[in-house]
Amino acid sequence: MKSFYLTTPLYYVNDAPHIGHAYTTLLGDVINRYHKLLGFDCFLMTGTDEHGQKVQQAAAKRNVSPQQHVDEYNLHFKELWTQLGVKYDKFIRTTDEAHKAYVRQSLIKLWDKGEIYSKDYSGWYSVSEERFFDESELVDGKDPIGGKAVEWLEEKNYFFKMSAYQERLIQYLEENPEFIVPDFRKNEVLGFLRQPLQDLCISRPKSRLEWGIPLPFDEDYVTYVWFDALLNYVSGVVDKTSTEGEARWPADYHLIGKDILTTHSVYWTTMLMALEIPLPKHILAHGWWLNGGAKMSKSSGTAINPIPYIEAFGVDSFRYYVMRDMVLGQDASFTDEAYFRRLNSDLSNDLGNGLNRVTKLILTHCEGRIPEAKLWEAHDEDLKTLAQQTVAKVLDMMESIKISQGIEEIMGLVRAVNKYLEIRAPWKLVKNPDLLPVFHTTLCAAAEALRLAFTLLEPIMPEKVAAGLAMLGTTFGGKESLVWNPNEGAELKPGPQQGLFPRILVEKEKPAPSPAVEVTSPAQLLELRVVEITQVEEHPEAEALYILQVNLGNEQRQVCAGLRKSLAPTDLLNKKAVLLANLKPAKLRGQISQGMLLAGEISEGRLTLANPSEIAVGSLLSAGDLKAAPKSQIKITDFDKVPLQVKEGKVYFEDQLIGFEGKPLLCAAPDGAEVR
Ligand code: MSP
Repeated sequence: MKSFYLTTPLYYVNDAPHIGHAYTTLLGDVINRYHKLLGFDCFLMTGTDEHGQKVQQAAAKRNVSPQQHVDEYNLHFKELWTQLGVKYDKFIRTTDEAHKAYVRQSLIKLWDKGEIYSKDYSGWYSVSEERFFDESELVDGKDPIGGKAVEWLEEKNYFFKMSAYQERLIQYLEENPEFIVPDFRKNEVLGFLRQPLQDLCISRPKSRLEWGIPLPFDEDYVTYVWFDALLNYVSGVVDKTSTEGEARWPADYHLIGKDILTTHSVYWTTMLMALEIPLPKHILAHGWWLNGGAKMSKSSGTAINPIPYIEAFGVDSFRYYVMRDMVLGQDASFTDEAYFRRLNSDLSNDLGNGLNRVTKLILTHCEGRIPEAKLWEAHDEDLKTLAQQTVAKVLDMMESIKISQGIEEIMGLVRAVNKYLEIRAPWKLVKNPDLLPVFHTTLCAAAEALRLAFTLLEPIMPEKVAAGLAMLGTTFGGKESLVWNPNEGAELKPGPQQGLFPRILVEKEKPAPSPAVEVTSPAQLLELRVVEITQVEEHPEAEALYILQVNLGNEQRQVCAGLRKSLAPTDLLNKKAVLLANLKPAKLRGQISQGMLLAGEISEGRLTLANPSEIAVGSLLSAGDLKAAPKSQIKITDFDKVPLQVKEGKVYFEDQLIGFEGKPLLCAAPDGAEVR
């Protein structure tokens, strides 16, 4: 059996876990479960990062010892993982004795090899980032990451000769293009490595920080938290082997968020090179969950707690939403609206509805047992073929960690079952006794296709799938059961009265309202999102219109835009634009348009798109100081109340610049031109 070892980052023990942390660990759980389904011998490790200044300070504030503090706080993560249904094989804490011993042993090895040296060092130190910055890196005299105060420190420290590995690392990345996934992240790292690599300061004097692992060769110092924490990936499995007795290391994947790509792909890999330990097979960096366009985080006040969602709508709905709505590598926005929309459309309308239709007809007309398929016709065969193809494709995608795409593929099968039911209309067939064999065959084939779809979804929604399969008269049967093999005669179990996936009543049941924003201007009600245009077609019924597909980061939409006279398809394809995303959808000559792209007038009817070139896809723009608080839907007359105008190539509402985090929305139209 092939071994599969997967890790998540070790979360800082101080922070209350939010949806961002929950996502990485859930992703680990889902990937791990798919690999189990595929027959791998799996090991998933997660844990907490427990040393460092912030822990020391938080403990002092509470008047407890740092150890007592971390003993309590790591439980927040363990409890959340239990609530989210995460099945890990090991929870490692950097305060575990075995880990501490391994770190000290690694330091001795590097010291003996001459990979570590000491020197006097001075620089601007940020307590909140726990690192030094060069003068040139400071922004307004503050640390450039968190914007917090820095202090000038002069002290002796120990350094790891990281710079010596620069060339080897570059060569490794070039020769192993799959080492960092997705591909564009590898290019980012290579870009970073074009600058000379510095040596890494790996110590902190005890006079300043006591809460850490003492350096074995100088007990007046403790180990830098990152140097300590990264070693967990190896220390946690030194005594672990696969069922066939092979070492677990090297890991198959380190799952991380893009925020910690450098520490993993540069610090960690060079540390391993120096320690002469093989490198992990892949580092997979996912994007961020955004809230209001910003990275969700405690410090920015944008953290969202997953618990109210789990409590209100069930753990499996949460698992489904975050896995489905984040395309690996890209950022995604977490909004109640997207959450409800996704669950209602995929789970209630498609999966729940298909299951409901089939099981109700079988319970009412077939004595609750799956009928035999006696009259097999072309459309039944088509459904079977599609189901078999879906199984093969999805298993492939999940093995290559294309989770959201794999789910979409499964949902394609579910939608095909519903379409098949609509065409065959078993509710009509049942009325004609001559057509009974057709009726039976239809239900048998639809139930079987649904069984396969549910089985494929098991790693995402284990509880709902168990219930759904029971309603189809069966249980989860693992990989062997992923073949077309109708359960003729199996007895169905009636499901819950309200259906397996009750619709979410949007207005009534909203959990965790977003932080209140005072609305003083109609400009705040607009949802102006940065999008990328992914497809351009001409509207067959309207010569002025294009039908565009646009990507909002976590969602794809269709928009009809009156740009044909002004712009060629090549001016639009793969370009960024700004969508008024909460405009009430409308049909334009038979085609749905979900929003409107902003454009400015150059001359009589000739338009140019507003251009958010520096702003990331998915970002929510606002007008200067007016914090955006978009209404769920607005009318065009609401938009009329917010006249947007071009001044010196930038878009303004009155004197407020439209943009995102200081980056302006541009528009190459003359001064005074209206933007809409
Ligand atoms: N302790 C370090 C990691 C050491 S690994 C040896 C750390 N901890 S953290 O608590 O800040 O967690 C970082 C990880 O949490 C990110 O890399 C990511 O996996 C996850 N996320 C935290 N915020 C996130 C979002 N807003 N969105 C998605 N994931 C994010 O860094």
